[in-house]
Parts: sequence; C-alpha cells; structure tokens
Amino acid sequence: MSRPPAFNFADPDFVSRYVEKGPKAFMPGQPGVLQMAGVLLAERVPEDGHVLVVGAGGGLDTQALAKAGPGWRFTGVDPAGQMLELARRILGEETMRRVELIEGGVEAAPAGPFDGATLILVLGLIPDNGSKLTTLSEIRRRLKPGAPFILVDRCDSPDNPLFDRNMDRYVAYAAASGIDPDTLKNARASHRGNPGLATAARDEALLAEAGFNGIEAFYFAMNWHGWVAYA
Ligand SMILES: C[S@@+](CC[C@H](N)C(=O)[O-])C[C@H]1O[C@@H](n2cnc3c(N)ncnc32)[C@H](O)[C@@H]1O
Repeated sequence: MSRPPAFNFADPDFVSRYVEKGPKAFMPGQPGVLQMAGVLLAERVPEDGHVLVVGAGGGLDTQALAKAGPGWRFTGVDPAGQMLELARRILGEETMRRVELIEGGVEAAPAGPFDGATLILVLGLIPDNGSKLTTLSEIRRRLKPGAPFILVDRCDSPDNPLFDRNMDRYVAYAAASGIDPDTLKNARASHRGNPGLATAARDEALLAEAGFNGIEAFYFAMNWHGWVAYA
C-alpha cells in the first residue's frame, strides 16, 4: 500500500495541524513571542517598511508580523521549498500580495537595505562552524544602520549537567501540548547530536561578533530565548 504524502498543503487539516502542533506546541508562549517581535520591530520599522524574514517556511512568523505592521512588506527566505509552500498557504492570497518568498538561505535575499529582520527558530539548525556567524553577519549587512533584528532560539549544550533534565522538560511540555510520544522518542538523541545546539551566551557572543548593538533579551522560557538587537 502506498504511504500518504507527508505534506499536503491543499489539505486544511494539514495546515491547521502545523499551526497548532508546530512551534506553538514546543515553545511556551509562541504566539506571544511573535506578538512581542512585532511590537519590538514596530518601534523602528516605518509604516511602509520592508522586513527580511530568514527561515520564513511555515509562514507563522510572517503571518504575525503582517498583523503587527499592516503596511509592511516582507521578503522571506527558506531553503525548504515545501515549507515555503506551507507559508503561502498559511499567509493566504491577501497577505501574499505584500510578501515575496525566495527559496534559499540568507545569501539568496536581496541586498536591501531592510528596515528590520527576524531569525526565529532557525539559528539552532545551523552548525556553529562559521555558518551561524555568516548567517548573522549576512543579515546585519542587509539592514539599515540602527534597524532592529529579532533572534529566537532554543539554547543548551550537551555539556550542561542539566541537559537531560532540560530535555525531560522539553518532551513533557510537547506531550502536554498533545504531541504524540512516537514523535518525541528521538528528541533527546537528536538534540544531543545537533551541531547547531548552542548556549544563550554563545548566541549573544555571535550577535556581537556579527556587529549587532544594543543586544537585549526580551524573552526566556525553559530553554527558549529571544533577543532584540540593532544593526
Ligand atoms: C522550526 S522552522 C521555523 C519557521 C518559522 N521561522 C517560524 O518561526 O515558524 C525552521 C525553518 O528554518 C529553515 N532553515 C533551516 N536552515 C536554514 C538556513 N540556513 N537559513 C534559513 N532558513 C533555514 C527550515 O527550512 C525551516 O523552515
């Protein structure tokens, strides 16, 4: 018997499952974090500003920011074509009139300069072998001087004596959100082996190294962190 396709963007159930069982099910207060991101960007992004969304797949961040800035335009980049397809579906025709989605990493984004940028739940997927720094530097290079940047990341280290306790909490939170145990059974091993997993101190150091100023934490829940910083 053939397996059903893993992604069916025409299926409203699939789309609503991503909305309810995607990042929201894992990161405490995810809708509030996106709302805060909009508030923090709006302090400096003009009413007709242009925002760069790096890792825009799935569309949830752009959807929230489009509400925060009804006159903002967006350029979103993501290397996963299927996640961009989902973003198109979630954003809908009307919002897509002010959104351009490009398949690729930040290097695929135009030079801008942009009035603001976000990197939400993406940095932890990028290895800390120079690639994280390149991503942050390439974002900063595309921003106007003083433009705000929002970074949200799950931070930890396999060397942390509390790593296992933290993973217990990660799994327990997702299970309490209704994620089935089968989906969670490999979480500990995959986080432990993830070359992109970094501490909050490391993320802050990378932001500074990439040239961002005024780095300020605005969110912390379990191991999830959010910062605003300025180009
Ligand atoms: C967990 S999802 C988060 C999506 C969205 N930012 C949100 O908050 O809902 C991570 C996304 O990052 C994308 N991604 C992975 N590596 C990336 C990279 N080097 N540059 C940009 N996006 C990347 C993935 O394809 C995926 O769509």
